[in-house]
Amino acid sequence: MPLHILSHPLAAHIITHLRDQTTKPATFRTLAYQISLLLAIEATRAIATEEKQIATPLETITSRVLHPQPLVVVPILRAGLGMVEGILRLMPSARVGHIGLYRDHETLEPVDYYFKVPGDVGARDFLLLDPMLATGGSLTHTAELLVRRGVDTTILVVCVLAAPEGLQRLEESGLDLHVITAAVDERLDERRFIVPGLGDAGDRLYGTV
Ligand code: PRP
Repeated sequence: MPLHILSHPLAAHIITHLRDQTTKPATFRTLAYQISLLLAIEATRAIATEEKQIATPLETITSRVLHPQPLVVVPILRAGLGMVEGILRLMPSARVGHIGLYRDHETLEPVDYYFKVPGDVGARDFLLLDPMLATGGSLTHTAELLVRRGVDTTILVVCVLAAPEGLQRLEESGLDLHVITAAVDERLDERRFIVPGLGDAGDRLYGTV
């Protein structure tokens, strides 16, 4: 499974402030927006384009534009919502699907409560958004739902922090995935939180600690 780790001084700066427990929700949301923009640039390196003939003020040339069928970004609720705006700023024509999931605190398994993606999944590119890849249960479950719905392209998994355990689970799932993350952390703790991590991304985004 291809894994791309964002390596950029701006990303390092943003992640440091996301991790800092004194960062308040308003700033946390801005930082999440900024890191998502940087991640989106990396994640879309290989998306489909096609030729287009245009006339510059000087001559006619053949250049490239995005494929007319817009890609789909799918945030995993609720923390994934914090990543949508950064990506839409870069690609305003993208469609937005939504998947509602939470991790059961007893079993640690994902429980889904909402699923809405465009009907014509066709050969579209899909970007799955979740800031945290902890055990990998949520992302594996979501990718499986998309494949069941007919998605047959490589699913681009975009996260901010990934744990080695989660990466291993995605790898072992056998799903056609490509992971783009801003950092790979050390491990999961006994509650299956990423360490050192940034805490609970949903709570920090929306002030529900
Ligand atoms: C967190 C996080 C991921 C998931 C990661 O969400 O935002 O979606 O857990 O864990 P996993 O890789 O072990 O599946 P949570 O269940 O806390 O829901 P929330 O976004 O609604 O807070």
